[in-house]
Amino acid sequence: MLKGLNFGDTMKPELGYVILAAGKGTRMHSDLPKVLQQVLGKSLLGYVFDALNHVSQSRMWTVVGFRACDVERTFPQRLEQFVRQEEQIGTGHALMCAWDRIMAAGVSHVCVLNGDTPHVPVEAISNLAEACAANHAAMGMLTLRLDNPFGYGRIIRSADGCVEGVVEEKDFNAADHGGEVHEVNSGVYVFDVGRCASLLELMDRNNAQREYYLTQMVSLCAAHKQSVVGLPFGSSDLLRGINSPGELVRFEESLRTKIVNDLLDAGVILRNRHSIVIGPDVTVGSGAEIVGPCEIYGQSRIERGAVIASHCWIKDSILGPCQVKSFSHIEGSHIRAGASVGPYARIRPGSDIGEGARVGNFVEVKKSVLHTGAKAGHLSYLGDSDIGPGVNIGAGTITCNYDGVRKHRTEILENAFIGSNTALVAPVTVGAGALVAAGSVVTKNVPDGALCVARSRQTNLDRKKQPPQS
Ligand code: UD1
Ligand code: MG
Repeated sequence: MLKGLNFGDTMKPELGYVILAAGKGTRMHSDLPKVLQQVLGKSLLGYVFDALNHVSQSRMWTVVGFRACDVERTFPQRLEQFVRQEEQIGTGHALMCAWDRIMAAGVSHVCVLNGDTPHVPVEAISNLAEACAANHAAMGMLTLRLDNPFGYGRIIRSADGCVEGVVEEKDFNAADHGGEVHEVNSGVYVFDVGRCASLLELMDRNNAQREYYLTQMVSLCAAHKQSVVGLPFGSSDLLRGINSPGELVRFEESLRTKIVNDLLDAGVILRNRHSIVIGPDVTVGSGAEIVGPCEIYGQSRIERGAVIASHCWIKDSILGPCQVKSFSHIEGSHIRAGASVGPYARIRPGSDIGEGARVGNFVEVKKSVLHTGAKAGHLSYLGDSDIGPGVNIGAGTITCNYDGVRKHRTEILENAFIGSNTALVAPVTVGAGALVAAGSVVTKNVPDGALCVARSRQTNLDRKKQPPQS
């Protein structure tokens, strides 16, 4: 409990959320909007949205501006909550852009967060909102104590400890404040909507960057005898904003290390762990084994008993207790128990590799099902196909699924045998137990149990009786 602050039983504040995500992120030196920069395969803004998943979308607004369409397109299910800031002239102006929506929603308080800070301290935010309400404060903010406060707005407190101003890096001069100030603004605020409405209009651009600084609200509150709660959040690195490639990569590395260590503690074998990258939403069952270098992203689930060799890249896939050999690439697919994939296999989205099935080297599978025990050992392309149980696909088999306009499906029924170097021109079905001779170009359906030979017959002639070659 903080000295002087009341956390009493006042009515719970009705909280809305505004995420500031309109800035270009000049210090990132990239054409991508900063909030779309990725950390372990997930965008900065994605982290913020996921942490606030419990918040109703009717109480949440995201201010976008620089390449707004790109940001909006990345989150199509959230289109309703985007608010445009056409000209990016500061964080204060960004909040003003959302103000009408906030007022219309009728919330008592609004939490404002920077979209470049992936960690959202959900519990500390509700404490902050309650402290604001209980103390009748116009606004509150979470502060950090950093050894190196460079880049952050410095918190200025009065002799009796009240927050009375924030001075931004570009306006800060240590000499004016009796030395360096180590308490900084985390960029997490709560505003009392009623108390702040008129003060917002008093913000100006009289500062080094000629922008409307949201942080000016602190001195405006102080000047109008409104109190500000400054709630310390400790010296944690978690609430650091990401402004440059260095900060992005350092944050990514610390999160990666944490995820790997947590998995090791939970009983996952991670060999060569320093080169294993696992995204924040991936689940890995204890008893799974992964060898680095290896990357696993998205909504992947790796189950107990799965063994993944080095140099694999996996995204949005479910792996049962299977074997994935080196240099395999798996996306949006399911690899079931006892299946074996790779080395050098590419499993593209929509594929399902059944129990005990085998996909060998240089085999590409796209939107295809390989049922139990089906095998494609070498050098094949299986696209838009359904490969029945026990089918054997010979080396060099290609499903010709595209006619230049549309995609078509290939169906190979159980226990069929496809000889090497076969082209299956879709749409086509090979019946159960059928055998397609090597080198065939199959353009018509093959009945169950048939032998299909679809190639020109070989002729062997006596060389000595041939006319001499010119
Ligand atoms: C900001 C704070 C600083 C704090 C730091 C914490 C201000 C003026 N300064 O500085 O006190 O210590 O965060 O990380 O707020 N944005 C807009 N529209 C704009 C400008 C920015 O939506 O016109 C968004 C950005 O996309 C970003 C967020 O606001 O997500 C913060 O902007 P940024 O430029 O990163 O501010 P900092 O310099 O980090
Ligand atoms: Mg920032």
